Amino acid sequence: MNTGQKALDTRLVHPPDSQGEGRLLGAVSPPIFQTSTFVFDSAEQGGARFAGTEPGYVYSRIANPTVRLLEQAVADAEGAQAGLAFGSGMAAISSVLVQLLRSGDHVLVSRGVYGGTFALLELLAEKFGIHHTFAKLTDESAVRQAWGEQTRLVYVETPVNPTMELVDIAACARVAHEHGALLVVDNTFATPVLQRPLELGADVVIHSATKYLGGHGDVILGLAAGTDELMSQIRLDALKDFGGITSPFDAWLVLRGMKTLAVRVRRHTESAQEIATRLQEHPQVVEVYYPGLPDFPQQSLYRQQMHGGGGMVSFIIRGGDEAGVKFMDRLELCERAVSLGEAHTLVEHPASMTHAGIPAEVRREMGIRDGLVRISVGLEDVEDIWADLEQSFKSIT
Ligand SMILES: Cc1ncc(COP(=O)(O)O)c(C=O)c1O
Repeated sequence: MNTGQKALDTRLVHPPDSQGEGRLLGAVSPPIFQTSTFVFDSAEQGGARFAGTEPGYVYSRIANPTVRLLEQAVADAEGAQAGLAFGSGMAAISSVLVQLLRSGDHVLVSRGVYGGTFALLELLAEKFGIHHTFAKLTDESAVRQAWGEQTRLVYVETPVNPTMELVDIAACARVAHEHGALLVVDNTFATPVLQRPLELGADVVIHSATKYLGGHGDVILGLAAGTDELMSQIRLDALKDFGGITSPFDAWLVLRGMKTLAVRVRRHTESAQEIATRLQEHPQVVEVYYPGLPDFPQQSLYRQQMHGGGGMVSFIIRGGDEAGVKFMDRLELCERAVSLGEAHTLVEHPASMTHAGIPAEVRREMGIRDGLVRISVGLEDVEDIWADLEQSFKSIT
């Protein structure tokens, strides 16, 4: 079926299937091709497949039909020519960065990235001389000001985890392209339902599909999407030779998750908007960070590049980190856990958990203040989520 002209909600349910492999024997749910290798009809055919003169599968580290369906699904969802699947979000990030950079290059990075990405950037600097600078990339002049002579790539998360600061994607793309550099956007928080980085000029989009795309907290997987040229370079070098691939079963789980992505993200967003609004009124809350709030400081950028605030809310609790830890310990329904974007509401304390590997002064520069608690608002009834947060606030007064 050609669903090219259909809405995103429809395309998520009917992802592209260029070879018809997802509908073998009329299956409505795609087969899991749990195989490491593929038999050749003849030695000549094997040689032709290796040479690339005949299409067909060879070995699942190079390509696998179930994984390929997922790669087509993410490309379609992000409006890209091609997609790639990896064993984790970090495998996607490390493969993309190692492929696109070389020693001596400089990376301009949003002020705030996931802790694992921070550690990877440190490692690239220390071992390979690929240096980076964190900067507040909230408008074009800020991007120009932060630009360095050796900058070859801009790497951003937006909304930034966990402060929800927005990075101006279109401005980053304009300045990067003027200098012959590339823009890579980690779109894990917003998902293609709420933000479409490639349409705003980005070259590569990355996902930790562990989060909203998978959506059920049962899989670790990473995705990238971009042009045919960039994706095939990454596939042939970084993905094939570093080998950070995903399994057919995990690919299947994310394919299944993506069918309901649009519905889930809208429900996460609706509930997060309500929780953020109520937190703002709460006497034990000093400040709330949520892009969908009417007084969010980057309103015009928010309207320009997002279609909803998403499911993540951060707030500063009165009483600092000590109160934050107590608040978490008293929760009864919401789970104390890192990760995000799944059915359960998950609450974490970035300074001692996801961002603990980042030195305290760098954390403060990133805007992670004492007492910052992050909530991944789940799919439970919003009144039940709120009742749990409220009883926890009460119990620590
Ligand atoms: C924004 C973001 N990007 C990337 C990652 C890494 O993804 P994974 O855990 O799938 O390797 C995470 C993990 O929490 C994340 O929050």
